[in-house]
Amino acid sequence: MKEELYQFGYRVYESFSELSDDDKVLLKAAQEATALSYAPYSDFHVGAAAKLANGEIITGGNQENASFPAGLCAEGVVMAVAAARFPRMPIYTLAISYNSLRTESDHPIAPCGVCRQSLDEFKAKTGSPVRLLMGGLRGKVLEIRDASALLPLAFRF
Ligand code: THU
Repeated sequence: MKEELYQFGYRVYESFSELSDDDKVLLKAAQEATALSYAPYSDFHVGAAAKLANGEIITGGNQENASFPAGLCAEGVVMAVAAARFPRMPIYTLAISYNSLRTESDHPIAPCGVCRQSLDEFKAKTGSPVRLLMGGLRGKVLEIRDASALLPLAFRF
């Protein structure tokens, strides 16, 4: 028997202004994409923006449904649109933001477990890690170089 240790590092930016110009554009696109959200049940409007290997930026928001489990996360919407328009094109960076009357948008949110599983397979499919940029409309921004690091021992077969 041996014991393994799992660790990953990530970056914390104190504010939007510390980001590179490219990252500012992408996080801004994710913030604006909160307007694409349809979230009448949770009033939690998530926006995501993916920068693809070909330079395209794909945006989307979460899409809820009266049958709650039928709802789609913003990250899932963006991955699906990217795959539909540019099959197997890597996502270099995925920015995620949110807006809600229920909570201040002043801290980052990270992708849910299901989206982590999808992001991990997106990397496997394209051969390229998905870098994450997470931030509210204000406040700190987190960067993770490879979204797969958020899902140790991911399910694969
Ligand atoms: N949601 C996302 O769009 N992305 C996430 O990473 C977490 C949650 C959505 C799902 C639901 O429409 C709303 O946020 C509240 O959970």
